[in-house]
Amino acid sequence: MSARNLHLWHPFTQEGADPAPLRIRRAEGVYLETDDGGQILDAISSWWVNLHGHAHPAIAAAIAEQAKRLEHVLFAGFSHEPAEELAWRLGKIVPPALQHIFFSDDGSTAVEVALKMAVQFWRNIGRPEKCRIVALEHAYHGDTVGAMSVSDDSAFTDAFGALRLPILRAHSAYCARCPVGRERATCHIECLESLERLLNERGQEIAAVIVEPLLQGAGGMIVHPEEFLSGIRRLTGEHEVLLIADEVLTGFGRTGRMFACDRAGVVPDLLCVAKGLTGGFLPLAATLATDRVYDAFAGPDRSRTFFHGHSYSANPIACAAANANLKIFETEPVFERIAAIEKTHAARLAGFAKHPAVRDVRQIGTVAAIELDVPDAGYLSSLRPLLYNFYLNRGVLLRPLGNVIYLLPPYVITSSQLNFAYEVIQDSLALVSNVPGGTSAMKSQASTAS
Ligand SMILES: Cc1ncc(COP(=O)(O)O)c(C=O)c1O
Repeated sequence: MSARNLHLWHPFTQEGADPAPLRIRRAEGVYLETDDGGQILDAISSWWVNLHGHAHPAIAAAIAEQAKRLEHVLFAGFSHEPAEELAWRLGKIVPPALQHIFFSDDGSTAVEVALKMAVQFWRNIGRPEKCRIVALEHAYHGDTVGAMSVSDDSAFTDAFGALRLPILRAHSAYCARCPVGRERATCHIECLESLERLLNERGQEIAAVIVEPLLQGAGGMIVHPEEFLSGIRRLTGEHEVLLIADEVLTGFGRTGRMFACDRAGVVPDLLCVAKGLTGGFLPLAATLATDRVYDAFAGPDRSRTFFHGHSYSANPIACAAANANLKIFETEPVFERIAAIEKTHAARLAGFAKHPAVRDVRQIGTVAAIELDVPDAGYLSSLRPLLYNFYLNRGVLLRPLGNVIYLLPPYVITSSQLNFAYEVIQDSLALVSNVPGGTSAMKSQASTAS
């Protein structure tokens, strides 16, 4: 069947501007196989969801088994073994303070749940005036209306100003473009002062601060110092404001620890997980809460109920996939693989840092980013389509965020596969000189990246 007859409307895709979607017929490990038998190295884990490789047999088998036993039952008034096992498995790996788990469908809904829980929490304990949310510059939390509101203004949100909720905005720790003009080597995290001012002036009306801990993803793979995150936790605690950690991207090992918050010794009040939860097989998300938050919703008073749910909340097949996914952390050397990726990233990025087309390189755990120096920096940079097509022609799936190239591979990638992706990126840097006003040094200097 030809894709032309199907009238599929693809996400983040514009017919007439973007190339026709590629048809994929199967996938295994880090490779996608196209209809004509071509292989594409998936260096971004299919939008950051895949952990242990495509079509991992253990997850596939768990899904098949569960589908034969119980495919679905509504989760209001009912429960089931796969959800209970998943609650137990998640409970073992999240901070012990976060033992109340609310299931939803994807990253955006996990964020919606957290925002609504935070606002209702304060209402339920008699402080309804605490209803504003603070989010960071460069944030991305999803595409539903609440999640899009806490995301920063961007090409993604431009059309929807009329729908977005009013949000208070604080600086991000974007060290390569420091919002307060400091240098990381000598700064004292002065970027935190804008949040401190907001909390001092308006803490009485603020319900929560939401952050992507240590790594802002779609905003440009911006890596924050750990002190920035621990500083946010300290300030929110001092000002009686909840901290929502959106670990939709960073969860399940991406940053080198199970959760990014672990790296900074931070325990949030609400934690959002999705993407890697099922190893990239099925949509499933969870928002985890502390006793303090949960207790505000308990009791005989009906008005304290959390009136939120989705048809497929805690779908048993998705929970079975998640259980099989988390078991793989126990049965396979996942953190050894993660350490190997970290090592290759560090070695390769050091070479790119010296390249004249490169403004900054960043890394946290298995995520590496190379920010290129172009005059039209940003998601709609004219360099982006050139890079994207170049990579696909060379058999590598990379989706630069404008002028920011990043790698976020499945953990099963070998060092030779990862090095191959780096070789292709290195070759692509010559494209910068094709962009009007692209780094002039590019024209005279050969590539120095290794
Ligand atoms: C940090 C973060 N939060 C939320 C989301 C939204 O997740 P989903 O696309 O599953 O709705 C994303 C997606 O990229 C994300 O990176």
